[in-house]
Amino acid sequence: MIKQAIIPLAGLGTRLLPLTSVFPKELLPINGKPGLEYILDECIDAGINEIIFIISKKKKLIKKYFYNDKYYKNIIKKKKDSRINKEYNKILKFKKKIKFVYQNNPLGTGDAILKTKNYITGSHFLILFPDDLIMKKNCSKQMISIHKKLNCSVMASIKVKKKNVSRWGIYSIKKKISKNEFLIDDVVEKPKINNAPSTNAVIGRYILPKEIFNKLTIQKKGIGGEIHITDSIRELIKEKHKFIGHNFAGKYLDCGTMYGYINSSLKISKL
Ligand code: G1P
Repeated sequence: MIKQAIIPLAGLGTRLLPLTSVFPKELLPINGKPGLEYILDECIDAGINEIIFIISKKKKLIKKYFYNDKYYKNIIKKKKDSRINKEYNKILKFKKKIKFVYQNNPLGTGDAILKTKNYITGSHFLILFPDDLIMKKNCSKQMISIHKKLNCSVMASIKVKKKNVSRWGIYSIKKKISKNEFLIDDVVEKPKINNAPSTNAVIGRYILPKEIFNKLTIQKKGIGGEIHITDSIRELIKEKHKFIGHNFAGKYLDCGTMYGYINSSLKISKL
């Protein structure tokens, strides 16, 4: 059973400057609700009961958001406002499930995940990248059921245009399992157009085995001088770990760029 999820939140958010110069991008509202809460709702609805946040000293406001009890209690005492009460209870519900670990130097997704090594108890765990919102259908829930059925690791994916492959991790297919599930042969982080093995892009949802930590411990820097989770996944695939690419059914919103962020509010308001 997958009961733990990791959310990397230590990134600098430079693509959303100036909005992120003093404020964590994951708390920016998307259609009236912090982006991070969509991710938490997805986790909890998928049956996750422990969520590990990877933050940094610069992103302490994220912790404060969940630990502002004194403030809420004062307000609730003075004002009998049922909406505020409801929102506070929701934050308390989240808080019970969250643990914090720190990544103070942003050295890449792989380095961030490695910081959680001593907290993972099960054989597999879920990772959600907060820039990637998936609406309408719970992608994590679908992936957990594939993991249960096929006893494998899983990565969410979509088909992208060839001209955009260098934005993503791209995987090649060994075998089609079903309409939306593929056995992965190899995966490359942000390949050049000419080197891309396909146009199957990895989106920020992963079910990974604990063995990934052995690879991350010795993982060398990859493209852009960062330690990428993709490069360690590649090592596991080489050792015959079974990885399935899952073309998910929900609506994908990339909130990590200014254009995507602005658009996501508009799109969610119409869902
Ligand atoms: C990360 C991963 C990449 C993946 C993407 C999905 O890239 O490294 O493989 O395709 O998330 O959003 P980033 O968005 O951090 O550049």
